[in-house]
Amino acid sequence: MERTLVLLKPDAVQRGLIGSIIKRLEDRGLRIVAAKFMKVSQDLAEQHYAVHKGKSFYTGLIEYIIASPVLAMVWEGPAAIAAVRQTMGATRPTEASPGSVRHDYGLEVGRNLTHASDGPETAIQEVALWFSDNELVDWQRDFDRWVFETVDD
Ligand code: RTP
Ligand code: MG
Repeated sequence: MERTLVLLKPDAVQRGLIGSIIKRLEDRGLRIVAAKFMKVSQDLAEQHYAVHKGKSFYTGLIEYIIASPVLAMVWEGPAAIAAVRQTMGATRPTEASPGSVRHDYGLEVGRNLTHASDGPETAIQEVALWFSDNELVDWQRDFDRWVFETVDD
């Protein structure tokens, strides 16, 4: 079972899209592990986007993510990292597949609604950056065996 960090960025929150985006993740069969509605500090934003420091869009990216509250979440499931990125769509909304969040709700790369971890190492790092261990909830759903081929106990 993989875990991945998902952020509903300020535009998603301001536009009232929290429910619509969460519904897509729930419908997909992914299981929520943690959620936190929060203002993002400059320090957290800089740590989260450290990999982009020095790039042309970095300053705008930091301003974007701290501009208004975000909903930070952790989701899990088999291949959850790839599944969530597929549900969100390509970084640029005009390159995202129809049916993806970024295609269906977005137009510009600097207002692309969500963040999702891009690989196993980043997922572990990002979950640890945004959540403490005691905020991550281990639980099962009654229908897990009808979504997950292998169910953990
Ligand atoms: P994310 O990290 O937010 O899930 O998005 P991603 O992996 O698809 O894209 P990434 O390359 O990690 O970029 C992080 C965020 O920076 C903004 N961005 N702007 N103006 C630009 O060329 C540009 N490129 C990236 C986007 O908000 C992107 O989600
Ligand atoms: Mg990324």
